[in-house]
Amino acid sequence: MLVVGDVMLDRYWYGDASRISPEAPVPVLLYKEEEYRLGGAANVAANCAALGAKTRLLSVVGRDEAGDTLTAMLRRKRVVASLQRDRSVQTTQKLRVIARRQQLLRIDMEKPPSSETLAAKLADFRRALRQCDVVVLSDYGKGGLAHIATMIREARRAGRPVLVDPKGDDYSRYKGATVVTPNLAELREVVGRWTSEADLLKRAERLRRSLGLEALLLTRSEDGMSLFRGAKPFHVRAERREVSDVTGAGDTVIATLAVMLAAGEDLEEAVRAANRAGGIKVTKFGTAEVTLDEIFGSME
Ligand SMILES: Nc1ncnc2c1ncn2[C@@H]1O[C@H](COP(=O)(O)OP(=O)(O)OP(=O)(O)O)[C@@H](O)[C@H]1O
Ligand SMILES: [Mg+2]
Repeated sequence: MLVVGDVMLDRYWYGDASRISPEAPVPVLLYKEEEYRLGGAANVAANCAALGAKTRLLSVVGRDEAGDTLTAMLRRKRVVASLQRDRSVQTTQKLRVIARRQQLLRIDMEKPPSSETLAAKLADFRRALRQCDVVVLSDYGKGGLAHIATMIREARRAGRPVLVDPKGDDYSRYKGATVVTPNLAELREVVGRWTSEADLLKRAERLRRSLGLEALLLTRSEDGMSLFRGAKPFHVRAERREVSDVTGAGDTVIATLAVMLAAGEDLEEAVRAANRAGGIKVTKFGTAEVTLDEIFGSME
C-alpha cells in the first residue's frame, strides 16, 4: 500500500479545571497528562498496516518535536514512513484540552509545505509507485497534495487503483481516480443539497462521470454508505453500535477499502468490510486501528 497525503498529530491534554482564572473569565487547567494519536494520512497508513498490508507513507513534516513523535509512532505501527523533514514547515497538530471528558479548547498548529518541497516528493512517489499494489491519497486540505493530479495520472498509467479521501469544493484535481470517498458534508459541498435519494443518485452520477471515476463512495455516518458506479447504487446500512467517538472513521474506511481491493476482493465486498470497520472504529476513542479479526470475526 502506498499512502500519500497530509499527516497530523492529534494531541490530548488532560487535567482538572476547577478554578476560573483571576486574569480573564476562562477556566484554569491543572495539567495531568498527555496522549498522542496519529491523524490524517498517518492514521490511514496505520490502519492499512494493522490490516496486514505492507504500507509506505509519503508526507512532509516539520523539523519539530511533533515530527519526531509522528516518526516514532509510525515506526511502532509498522508503517514505512518516508517523511521529509522541512525547516519551513510546522507539523500539523490538533491539541484538545480536556477536563472531565469535556473539551475546553482545541488548538491547531500548521504551516504547509512549499511547492518546491512537494515537487521534490514526486520523485519519491514514482519510485514507491512501482512497489505498491494500491495508492491511497488522503487529502486533508493542508496543501501536502499540491501535485495530486499528476500522482493520479501516473498511478493510473502504471495500472494501480487510486483511492482518494477528498476535501474542498474543487474535485477536478481528482479526475481519473478509481474511487473517491466523500462524507455527507463533503459531497454536499460539491454537488449541492439534494432533495431525495433519486436526486442524490442523479447528482452523484453526474459528478462521477464528469471526473471519470470508477466509483463514488459516499460515507453517511450512522446511515452507512452508498456506492455509486452506474445506474443502480449499492447501499450498506451502518451497524447499530454504542458510538464513543467518530474521529477518524473515514480514515479507517478508506484504509479498509484499499486493503480489501489490494487483496483482490471486488468493490462491493470491499465496501461491506469498510462499513464494518467504520462501525467498529466509532466504538473506540480517538483515531484508532481496526483488525481483521474485529472485522471478520464479527461477520455472520
Ligand atoms: N454513528 C455511527 N454509527 C455507526 N457507524 C458509523 C457511525 N458514524 C460513522 N460510522 C461508520 O463510519 C463510516 C464513516 O463515517 P463518516 O461518514 O462519518 O466519515 P467521516 O465524516 O469522513 O469521518 P471522519 O472525518 O471523522 O474520519 C460510516 O460510513 C459508517 O460505516
Ligand atoms: Mg473524512
